[in-house]
Amino acid sequence: MNLAKCASFLITLFVILVVGDCIRVICRISPCPKTNPPLPIETVFQLPSSLPIWPSGTGFATASVSLGDLRVSEATEFDVVWRTRSGGPDNLGATFFEPSTVDIAQGYAVLGYHSQPNNKRFSGRSVVAYDDLNGNIKAPVDYISLWNSLSFEIDQDGIGFIWLPKCPDGYKALGHVVTNSTQKPSPDKIRCVKAELTEQCEHYKWIWGAEGFNVYTIRPSNRGTQAMGVHLGSFVAQVGGVMSDIACLKNTKSDLSAMPTLDQLKPLIDAYAPWVFFHPDEKYRPATVEWFFENGGLLYKKGDEANPVTILPDGSNLPQGGSDDNAYWLDVPPDSDARDNLERGDLAKAKVYVHVKPMFGATFTDIVIWMYYPFNGPATIKFRIFNIKADHLGEHTGDWEHVTLRVNNFNGELQSIYLSEHSGGTWVDATDIEFQDRNKAAVYASKHGHAFYSKPGLVLDGSDGIGLRNDCEKADLYLDTGFFYTLLSAEYLGTAVVEPPWINYSRKWGPRAAIYIQDEFEKIMKRLPKFLRSPFRRVFYKLPIKILEEEGPTSIKTKSSWYGDEI
Ligand SMILES: *[C@@H]1O[C@H](CO)[C@@H](O)[C@H](O)[C@H]1NC(C)=O
Ligand SMILES: *[C@@H]1O[C@H](CO)[C@@H](O)[C@H](O)[C@H]1NC(C)=O
Repeated sequence: MNLAKCASFLITLFVILVVGDCIRVICRISPCPKTNPPLPIETVFQLPSSLPIWPSGTGFATASVSLGDLRVSEATEFDVVWRTRSGGPDNLGATFFEPSTVDIAQGYAVLGYHSQPNNKRFSGRSVVAYDDLNGNIKAPVDYISLWNSLSFEIDQDGIGFIWLPKCPDGYKALGHVVTNSTQKPSPDKIRCVKAELTEQCEHYKWIWGAEGFNVYTIRPSNRGTQAMGVHLGSFVAQVGGVMSDIACLKNTKSDLSAMPTLDQLKPLIDAYAPWVFFHPDEKYRPATVEWFFENGGLLYKKGDEANPVTILPDGSNLPQGGSDDNAYWLDVPPDSDARDNLERGDLAKAKVYVHVKPMFGATFTDIVIWMYYPFNGPATIKFRIFNIKADHLGEHTGDWEHVTLRVNNFNGELQSIYLSEHSGGTWVDATDIEFQDRNKAAVYASKHGHAFYSKPGLVLDGSDGIGLRNDCEKADLYLDTGFFYTLLSAEYLGTAVVEPPWINYSRKWGPRAAIYIQDEFEKIMKRLPKFLRSPFRRVFYKLPIKILEEEGPTSIKTKSSWYGDEI
């Protein structure tokens, strides 16, 4: 350090100390205002890249959606009405928003206020309805004062008052009003909707709560491609165990005009299809179904196991329809080389299969990315600091996994993604996605089991450091699914997308796994050092082995999420 640098360092240090001291002295004389650290909610979430310009269509991403009798849109601006700073997820509190009337396009009316926990960036939406003055929507006749935070010793900005609109006969409330003063809100704050244009709603995710008061997000009770309930972005309050009666909207004429057209699907898939990262040690990689058929995949028939049949590349000689009655199944050939080759898959030529379907009364599009693996490898058990590789536990021929992209049809934005994990799965909000390339998510397939996760690392199915391992890693082994896909099915487009014959094969894609848990256990015991055997014996049967029992899964079309919502 030369002299000049040293001097400037000392001067800086001196200034910091003196200024800091002065502030401390001033603050003692007149108390300084409390500055709260910024909360995640104070930042508005945005997708990392701008959206493409969609080819023109029938109504997708045009900001307004026709629900038959009612035209709806989304508020894009919100004012904060009240904020708590503790309680709720991560104990960070929640914020209550009023859809801002200045931004609601002319003639649109608010149907419900919005609330979100403070632990995530703001990604709120609130559906507003166009009032064509023909009596489909009406102002409330009064408000019921449901709850307020006056007597609550909570960390909050101001005081919050939650109101339930009292609707005219034959009309229903679709959300609450929130104010920050004791005064009853004006009837102009919200609208009720004619009961025939609504559907039953249910509470979903917890937003916040304090002593007998809770608020939740809502969603239609009945969900799926044929269900017409519309998700509004409003919340429902529960006071003293009583859930308020809040309805959802309904697409009364099953109007599909907000769904993307065939021309709009390609840019949509290009925009959001994820990159799938495989574990660098993944031996059992994905392939196309066609590759599996052409390279030795066989159709077995019960009672004639000695004469399996070669499958045509498009699967047209597979039995169609019927139920999963174990009369047929697919398998790899008995010859061990051919078998080994098939089990490893063919990542270089692998493709995903895309199924597109309407959700929430066609106000959302679900783009389901199906991935096929000829083989699901054996599990690894974590037993404290030891990793015990099972020989066959968890193995099965034929493994179907999927990621669902949920896209908002008002603005074309990706809202969340669903990741299949063994027999269940999880939703990940767009705010929590790791974006890999523009608006494409990075998702991770676990080693051997191929469960999808949103982050690399270890997820243990079990507890106290004992369980089944799901290992994910970000390395060079990946598939950019936007480049390698086949449009498999889009029933809402009529005959525009032709399904391959193998889609209607409804039996198993692998034989019934003949895993004898007892055998597996004894084999592992023999390999373990003596001192570990009895502690291992105590935990083995408590492992969540059930989640591995996805033996040779049946056709993707027979899964409940094909027509229904994800779990
Ligand atoms: C009270 O709520 C209104 C919106 O209804 C908002 O504009 C105002 O900023 C709020 N006041 C405080 C102190 O938060
Ligand atoms: C699959 O089955 C459905 C319903 O039975 C039928 O409409 C469709 O045409 C079939 N698809 C193929 C490719 O055979």
